[in-house]
Amino acid sequence: MRVGILTSGGDCPGLNAVIRAAVLTGMVHHGLEFVGIRDGYRGLKEGDVRVLNRSSVRGTSRIGGTILGTSRTNPYEGEGGGAAAISETLERLGIDAVMVIGGEGTLAAANRLADDGLPIVGVPKTIDNDLDATDYTFGFDTAVQIATEAGDRLRTTGDSHMRCMVLEVMGRHVGWIALHTGIATGAHVTLIPEQPRSIEWICEYVQSVYDRRRAPLVVVSEGFRLEGMEEEYSRKGLDAWGRPRLGGIGEVLAPMIEERTGIESRATVLGHIQRGGAPSGADRVLATRFGLAAIDAIVDRAWGSMVSLRGTDIVRVRMAEALGDLKRVPEHRYREAERLFG
Ligand code: F6P
Repeated sequence: MRVGILTSGGDCPGLNAVIRAAVLTGMVHHGLEFVGIRDGYRGLKEGDVRVLNRSSVRGTSRIGGTILGTSRTNPYEGEGGGAAAISETLERLGIDAVMVIGGEGTLAAANRLADDGLPIVGVPKTIDNDLDATDYTFGFDTAVQIATEAGDRLRTTGDSHMRCMVLEVMGRHVGWIALHTGIATGAHVTLIPEQPRSIEWICEYVQSVYDRRRAPLVVVSEGFRLEGMEEEYSRKGLDAWGRPRLGGIGEVLAPMIEERTGIESRATVLGHIQRGGAPSGADRVLATRFGLAAIDAIVDRAWGSMVSLRGTDIVRVRMAEALGDLKRVPEHRYREAERLFG
């Protein structure tokens, strides 16, 4: 059996650990052959592949990004697209199964391909940790670790100047990275998309921290919205990701805080630094376990299934399960963090 592996959508620390585990166990224990499909669905449509073997994956679980490249190409659009054309390409290349590693958009396309009869198994990935069909995704732990280090560093410079430091982290629709970073750094306020807050509410906390002669640290998720600014949001519209077109929220917040409280404020947008680089140990382990379980699913011909973490177990679920509502931060988890604010 010849297995194609592709990574699609935004990259994420841990992708290479999935590929490595799949190739190692697949070759050694199941006699499978592997090809890497370049740049996600682009390579699948164009039949752009390269052979993967033990030496091509050696030492890669500690490397960030993806050795296969990635893209945001939709397999149903453009030349070579659609299930029938892709099925012909797979036949021409002698590929019997495809392991698709990706987030919500990628898995939605993979699920559609599987529904259209293609032999596909899914592996979930996203640093945002917003897929409901799995308790955690690899990449999240690394992102929180990087953001925590950034927050710790901001605290020492903030303390020295008695400034309010605002740290913007990723999280387009959900606040998991911000929530965990806020708790880990001991942020004085954490702001997430699930809980809109007014600028007055934020400034009250910032001021009370400053009055105790502490330098306030505010951690904010990129998808957070300020309450009371709905008119401005609708005037400026949303970007392609559904984020308010106001500029980065961190850079919007810092001057607003400074203007209202008189406390000197600075913004740091962590950006892609939290998505690049080596995966944490925990992410390497989770990604490796996903890779092993995905090979089991392929050997069992469980097309249309996806691997998932439930508690401490890796289980198999239908890919369609990953496509429902996003996993948002529940109220009680935010309240937990809120008990430490101020
Ligand atoms: O979904 C993962 C993510 O990192 C989001 O947190 C972020 O909004 C988005 O991808 C950024 O995408 P891009 O790398 O295409 O700018």
